[in-house]
Amino acid sequence: MNTDILEYRRKLKKKLSETRYEHSLSVAFTSVCLAMRYGYPLDKAEVAGLLHDCAKCYADSEFIHKCEKHGIFLSEDEKKAPAVLHAKYGAWMAREKYGIHDEEILSAIACHTTGKPDMGLLDKILYVADYIEVRRDKADNLAEMRRLAFIDIDEAVYQIVKGTLAYLNAKGSPIDTMTKNTFDDLEERRRKKHE
Ligand SMILES: [Fe+2]
Ligand SMILES: [Fe+2]
Repeated sequence: MNTDILEYRRKLKKKLSETRYEHSLSVAFTSVCLAMRYGYPLDKAEVAGLLHDCAKCYADSEFIHKCEKHGIFLSEDEKKAPAVLHAKYGAWMAREKYGIHDEEILSAIACHTTGKPDMGLLDKILYVADYIEVRRDKADNLAEMRRLAFIDIDEAVYQIVKGTLAYLNAKGSPIDTMTKNTFDDLEERRRKKHE
């Protein structure tokens, strides 16, 4: 058994609210299920899921200052969408505070709110697991995404990003460039696949 996991859990449980900790456990287990389905190392998927929201112990308003303090570059639109910053800062915390040096895990944590062009398998697993985990109950398309995630993870990522953009547009919320770039990349890949 990977005893590091138990240590990460102990630490996270102290830092996060009860509901955020429960969400983190659920994302870890869902990531493991997707890793089983798509042939990805289970231990890496579990760590990525468990730690993906490790920076959620801070308020959104704190991230810009924290990133500047630690020399983490932020684009102008990242600064305008502080809710996505916990992912970028979370990757920094995973490395510096939890001793994670696996680049695939750090990448998945860093892009779990926005995706990124050319997402790797763990990036996709975490992105989808964060959306479909068992405690989620708000999105209208949850049942469909839960089914699709285990049939075609690329299509699930595409549909979730598309839905997220539509939701943000409808609310008039700022949309960061990375989410737009992710969507353009996924559309292009989808178009080529169906040609
Ligand atoms: Fe998150
Ligand atoms: Fe999350």
